[in-house]
Amino acid sequence: MIDKTCLKAEIAGIKLKNPVMTASGTFGYGQEYAPFVDLNRLGAIILKGITLKPKRGNPPPRVIETPSGMLNAIGLQNVGVEVLIKEKLPYFKKFNTPVIINISGDTIEEYLELTRRLGEVSKEMGVAGLEVNISCPNVKKGGMAWGTDAKATYEIVSSIRKVTALPLIVKLTPNVTDIKIIAQAAEEAGADALSLINTLMGMVVDIDSRRPKLANVSGGLSGPAVKPVALWMVWQVFQTVNIPIIGIGGMIKVEDALEFIIAGARAIEIGTANFVNPRVTIEIIEGIEKYLIENNIKDITKLVGSMKI
Ligand SMILES: Cc1cc2nc3c(=O)[nH]c(=O)nc-3n(C[C@H](O)[C@H](O)[C@H](O)COP(=O)(O)O)c2cc1C
Repeated sequence: MIDKTCLKAEIAGIKLKNPVMTASGTFGYGQEYAPFVDLNRLGAIILKGITLKPKRGNPPPRVIETPSGMLNAIGLQNVGVEVLIKEKLPYFKKFNTPVIINISGDTIEEYLELTRRLGEVSKEMGVAGLEVNISCPNVKKGGMAWGTDAKATYEIVSSIRKVTALPLIVKLTPNVTDIKIIAQAAEEAGADALSLINTLMGMVVDIDSRRPKLANVSGGLSGPAVKPVALWMVWQVFQTVNIPIIGIGGMIKVEDALEFIIAGARAIEIGTANFVNPRVTIEIIEGIEKYLIENNIKDITKLVGSMKI
């Protein structure tokens, strides 16, 4: 049995101490979790989705628990990029963990302006890369509309590619017939990596009032309920593209994370589980290390996509 193992990963040129990141929208602006998690131990921190201007999001109720998961329709509530730069990013200077910014917009122009602005401050504020959300199901304009169409995916990703040299991770929606086609379009358009999945669309009805339980009617399903869907999509995309894949969806324990890595994810993002157990990311990092040691695997990269068929 080995006593030392290598957990390092590289995604889109971003060097990670380990493959465990936080999923956008489930870890706030990072600071909120600092009492529970040593942020220096994380592979990377992906912040709550940001738009050019502040957004109030959807009216409440906008979160509801479902069997083995939750539905949310937050609607990208956020402080806007200028407040992010002035008030949120300086906090991370004392940590050595890469910070990745998840970006959204209603129009291509908005994505481009946001990308340019973050590019301008990236060195000074330590922006390691961008995760482009073309998959948000809870907004009226933009959002998922890009990620459900291969042409639109190509158009938005190639436009963003032209205005930045920052590492680009494109986040895909599972609300499609064939995710491989969308993944291919993003790769051809210049994505450095893909992350998947965002939430699956769903709905809950209150039988007394006969109204939907979410004010937005529909919401995005996340948590353990989506894990088999996410895994299946990671595996399909792994067989289709040459760029690295970040697995997301329903992971709550180390075994879940290992399944994603074996199915082809070079890194993973932990989302909804943070709400239940704020220390889950650290527990998963420690669990992966233990698994590698026990299975005599010196380097985690050997495990990526090692599924036997
Ligand atoms: C409350 C909430 C807010 C989210 N906000 C964002 C967001 O701003 N941008 C984004 O790309 N994904 C967002 N997501 C999606 C998650 O990052 C993740 O892709 C999804 O929840 C699946 O992972 P999970 O099952 O581990 O939560 C959000 C999810 C939840 C539950």
